[in-house]
Amino acid sequence: MNIVELIRKKREGQTLTKEEIQYLLAGYVEGRVPDYQMSAFLMACYFKGMTEQETYTFTELMLHSGEIIDLSSIPGIKVDKHSTGGVGDKVSLILAPIVASCGVPVPMISGRGLGHTGGTLDKLESIPGFRTDLSIAEYKKVITNIGVVMIGQTKEIAPADKKMYALRDVTATVECIPLIAGSIMSKKLAEGIDALVLDVKTGRGAFMQTRDLSRKLAQTLVKIGTQFGKETLGFITDMNQPLGITIGNWLEVMESVECLRNNRGTNDGSSDLMEVTHLLSGAMIALGKKADSIDEGIEKSKEAIRNGKAYDKFKELVRAQGGDVSAIENFENRQPQPKFASEVHSAESGYVDEIDSLELGLASIALGASREKIDDVIDPKAGIKLNQKVGNKVAAGDSLAVFYTDRESALESGRIRIANAFHISSQKPKSRPLIWDIVDSSGIREWKS
Ligand code: URA
Repeated sequence: MNIVELIRKKREGQTLTKEEIQYLLAGYVEGRVPDYQMSAFLMACYFKGMTEQETYTFTELMLHSGEIIDLSSIPGIKVDKHSTGGVGDKVSLILAPIVASCGVPVPMISGRGLGHTGGTLDKLESIPGFRTDLSIAEYKKVITNIGVVMIGQTKEIAPADKKMYALRDVTATVECIPLIAGSIMSKKLAEGIDALVLDVKTGRGAFMQTRDLSRKLAQTLVKIGTQFGKETLGFITDMNQPLGITIGNWLEVMESVECLRNNRGTNDGSSDLMEVTHLLSGAMIALGKKADSIDEGIEKSKEAIRNGKAYDKFKELVRAQGGDVSAIENFENRQPQPKFASEVHSAESGYVDEIDSLELGLASIALGASREKIDDVIDPKAGIKLNQKVGNKVAAGDSLAVFYTDRESALESGRIRIANAFHISSQKPKSRPLIWDIVDSSGIREWKS
């Protein structure tokens, strides 16, 4: 087979056979197919897509590019959650300890920041000492001992995705349903789960910006999960403003810890974050058979926050993976100080009508919070703290946000970009649903608000 021919075939919108996809993936993992050829192939997929069968085969081959972890010796139904990626999406940090503290084992393999969206691994690694690079043996030991583990892809787990994920991030080839489906499902199917909850984001800050595309992605993901024999539930949730009040790794850890401590204050900008978290946790608790329905699961999830068990579980997780628990317990005094902190003010009076999460995601990359190139080093201190959410009333001169960076050169553009991301209107905006749809093997329907 000839790689150039395979790229050309996809460029012309033809369907590749299993052998052809295998030749390409194996060649890439083994280093015979260079990044520039894989980039061209990915761009061809972006424009021409894949058939349903090709998407399934692509996922299967990505999965079998590495090991499939066997967790059958661990009692209980193992359930994980995966998000298709958002801005300020720190749900996993709060949800994993909630669900584990309710008795459902959570083996989680997460990704790094991708495009303008943040990644759970980068957030966890901003906790001093926290190791996400556990071996499979260590991964099994941690989940056996404490019922939850959160790691990155090892070289054994879906290595084709590991390599391709980093390449897609820097070649503008993320926003493609078959590539997203193969990437997410190969990792998830490799980690030893019995069931899966998917959070498919929709809106400006999501890879799928329209509800129709998000529905299509959700249905593709649920279908693949079901074909592989895993009970899979998907939700479509809104990403038309950042989730919660922080964007940037250490800032997001601090917001998550405040939520886990049930210490969110009165002006509760984290309420959207917690609504999504409780929904997804509730679904996981129900799939793990520790609740009879999603609603009962949601109640259990809320109780785990109220009684402190989720926060205790989070600290147990940090300790088990080598992190410094005192940095969590004492984050108010342990906050790393960026060189610059700059406030952005509203130029007008009115209501916050929209907060452009894509623009804020891109601005946070420029501040140093995420990568532009594969080998960029992330600054865990960099990011944005929102002082307003959609629907808030502001007067001219009120603070909209504060941003943090070590890059002096990013200050002026950061200020302009962040100010422009806030749209102010004289009318109070209509409230939008945060949770749009639920998808299971029987189909898709609107979520009751
Ligand atoms: N998350 C993933 O793991 N892969 C994607 O392609 C997008 C989001």
